[in-house]
Amino acid sequence: MLASKRDQPVRERFQKLVLTLLPKGADVLDFGAGTGIDAKVYAGHGHRAFVYEPSDAMLGHLAVHCGEEIARESIIRVALPLTCKVYAVTANFAVLDHFSDHTALFEELSRVVDPGGFVLANMVNPYCLVDARYAWWRANLMNLVRRGKYAVPSESGVHRFAPRVVARAAAPHFRMERLIPRGPGLAIQPFMFLMFRRV
Ligand SMILES: C[S@@+](CC[C@H](N)C(=O)[O-])C[C@H]1O[C@@H](n2cnc3c(N)ncnc32)[C@H](O)[C@@H]1O
Repeated sequence: MLASKRDQPVRERFQKLVLTLLPKGADVLDFGAGTGIDAKVYAGHGHRAFVYEPSDAMLGHLAVHCGEEIARESIIRVALPLTCKVYAVTANFAVLDHFSDHTALFEELSRVVDPGGFVLANMVNPYCLVDARYAWWRANLMNLVRRGKYAVPSESGVHRFAPRVVARAAAPHFRMERLIPRGPGLAIQPFMFLMFRRV
């Protein structure tokens, strides 16, 4: 993941946005932190980073990659139910696409995120026309238009969502404040960033 040339510019844009939005020294929870690539960057910029990650394999890599930060408690592992209090929750690279519905998740995150804070998610963009070459994408187009979501037939249990469906699940605790990209950009970018403000 650290070496992925395709994903690196997306990751850099995501991290830059997080660091721009976070007040100085504010705590952050990296939800679905994977190997801790982002958490290490946030910790390096003076933010205490809590990490939640369900995969033991990922956690093993995180322990190695972020060993120093864990030792000095600038990165702290947390489990469910989430008990930390933070200004922001980040979920980079399709973490939220592993859920079939986000209502219970946003309910839980509402107890974690400070008033005025935010959730920033990087999700797979269901409108990206690059995927139109795949039969499953074309077969699900009407599902996307009508229901705003569908499951991708694979073992990974990944879904694709129209932003409005995630925004509906986030309410009333969070209000969608930003969608990047918008307009024609949605036809070409494989990922989209959704930012939700804690009401
Ligand atoms: C593509 S990886 C991204 C990891 C990391 N955020 C990054 O940017 O490198 C997706 C992550 O979502 C995690 N994940 C899967 N289901 C999850 C769930 N229900 N709750 C939280 N994380 C989950 C996986 O274990 C995996 O680490």
